[in-house]
Amino acid sequence: MRKSIKCYIHLLFCIVAGTFGENLTVHKASVAVSVGQSILLQTSFTLSHETLDYEFQWETGDYVIAKYTAYNSSFTPQGIPTWTNGRTKIYPKYKERVEIYPLNGSLLLKNVKLNDTRIYIFCVLNVEKNIRLWVHENSKTLGEMKLRGWNDTIFIFRILLCFFFVTSLILITRCLDGSRPLLSANHQHS
Ligand SMILES: *[C@@H]1O[C@H](CO)[C@@H](O)[C@H](O)[C@H]1NC(C)=O
Ligand SMILES: *[C@@H]1O[C@H](CO)[C@@H](O)[C@H](O)[C@H]1NC(C)=O
Ligand SMILES: *[C@@H]1O[C@H](CO)[C@@H](O)[C@H](O)[C@H]1NC(C)=O
Ligand SMILES: *[C@@H]1O[C@H](CO)[C@@H](O)[C@H](O)[C@H]1NC(C)=O
Repeated sequence: MRKSIKCYIHLLFCIVAGTFGENLTVHKASVAVSVGQSILLQTSFTLSHETLDYEFQWETGDYVIAKYTAYNSSFTPQGIPTWTNGRTKIYPKYKERVEIYPLNGSLLLKNVKLNDTRIYIFCVLNVEKNIRLWVHENSKTLGEMKLRGWNDTIFIFRILLCFFFVTSLILITRCLDGSRPLLSANHQHS
């Protein structure tokens, strides 16, 4: 509970202060992965002012996943980090499942579960970006679903064929039935 309040306050800080001009890039705003796989949530950033220390953090709406605090770093003139020395903290719920890359902020989420489907918030100094992650049942089920879809199409096609066959049969018999009285009438007449 206390942790989530801290997280909200931090988030609020991120939003309120998010006008300082750091450049933060999220390479894909939305990614999909199947259960059990690993996914790299790719980010990169540049820092607009001279700084040796910076901090970034990954969180979901109510939980901090991981945090990196740089003590000493170096940057290109464009502000891209090239070297850093600092501390990585992975919070308990994500221990053993998460790696973060201090130079670009990317987060590697391993062995994903269905309930990892959510929005991930990346926050560096005072800017934040979101990545939406979709976790679906494994690709085998996805393949089966596709196959089932295809079978459904064939099934509907067959039903339609059958329907046309039956209707044309009915039409033909009606035609024959319709011509019979005429024939018999002629027969009676002669
Ligand atoms: C921000 O970074 C991206 C990629 O690193 C770059 O293409 C873009 O021009 C940068 N924008 C600013 C305002 O620095
Ligand atoms: C971030 O760094 C990691 C590790 O060096 C690398 O695998 C990944 O491709 C980088 N991502 C981007 C977007 O630069
Ligand atoms: C940062 O690292 C550089 C290069 O290793 C070193 O010269 C410098 O003293 C360090 N600064 C701090 C504040 O630790
Ligand atoms: C997500 O699902 C896994 C099992 O697939 C479970 O161990 C974990 O506790 C769940 N997490 C949440 C937040 O519900």
